[in-house]
Amino acid sequence: MKKLSARRRHPLAAVVVLLLALAATGGLYTAFAPASKAKADDSAQSLTIEEGKKLYEVGCASCHGTGGQGTTDGPSLVGVGAAAVDFQVGTGRMPAQQPGAQVPRKKVIYSQGEIDQLAAYIASLGAGPNVPTKNEYSPEGADIAKGGELFRTNCAQCHNFTGKGGALTHGKFAPDLEGVAPRHIYEAMQTGPQNMPSFPDTTLSSKNKKDIIAYLNAVNSDETVNPGGLELGGLGPVSEGLFAWIFGLGALIAVAVWVAARTAKAKKS
Ligand code: HEC
Ligand code: HEC
Repeated sequence: MKKLSARRRHPLAAVVVLLLALAATGGLYTAFAPASKAKADDSAQSLTIEEGKKLYEVGCASCHGTGGQGTTDGPSLVGVGAAAVDFQVGTGRMPAQQPGAQVPRKKVIYSQGEIDQLAAYIASLGAGPNVPTKNEYSPEGADIAKGGELFRTNCAQCHNFTGKGGALTHGKFAPDLEGVAPRHIYEAMQTGPQNMPSFPDTTLSSKNKKDIIAYLNAVNSDETVNPGGLELGGLGPVSEGLFAWIFGLGALIAVAVWVAARTAKAKKS
């Protein structure tokens, strides 16, 4: 006890304490400082972009140009954003193959890791919509009824009432939306591929997009029991009307014929 207080009184004690305090603060700072982490993230990001550039040069540059500026065979990708790449490559549309009225969905040839790298590279060429987070596109907790209403006003004219798809002009078509991943539905709305208009957050908020995804999820899931009975392919009023005409009117005609036959028989006897 005596020894300690003697040391405390030593003229150098204050300096030692100060130095120790400084070292501790410095150590704590380096341990918790965000700067070094940001630097590591930065270099990981530039590595991702570098890898994406390599993939791009092999698989995409022939049509979209060496710097993404576009050629006669493909549009410029500057500013389309990571979301467009994630959608186009993630649904197998890109790389495009044979020319036609519309580039269709096909087998996906890149892994999700490679798609992320391609997306990072394209995003580095110019700002555009980011890939949505799970929180944004997951249909959980969304309003299905509201989604149905929004779908009928914004999408049904091309994709039909429950998203079964339909033909457009010049050999183009709006595809069936059954089984399309929520993430890709969100990105389609964000980026408006080919003949589809885009629905940025200013026209259709993130919350509304989620409602639409929840609606599509509900009408296309196998567990949905159709409260109206037979769903007739979910094609809307045309097929339902046709059903009423053929079976409804058919039944009426059958009854009329039966009544006429009965009266004819009754007259004879
Ligand atoms: C054979 C030529 C060809 C190749 C190869 C090709 N594309 Fe495309 N790409 C097109 C054409 C044509 C379009 C325009 C039609 C469309 O939107 O689908 C297009 C459109 C796109 C779009 C949408 C642009 C927008 O405005 O939203 C993206 C993103 C894209 N390509 C990315 C890629 C990536 C990434 C690759 C390589 C993995 C690739 N493409 C390979 C021809 C090609
Ligand atoms: C003017 C017609 C039109 C309207 C309106 C429209 N779409 Fe589309 N949609 C299309 C066309 C055409 C394609 C095919 C584009 C392609 O293959 O690149 C498409 C593609 C899609 C895809 C991709 C499907 C797949 O198989 O990968 C989704 C998802 C989609 N639309 C959702 C919607 C939603 C949700 C709305 C309403 C908010 C909507 N669309 C409004 C025409 C339309």
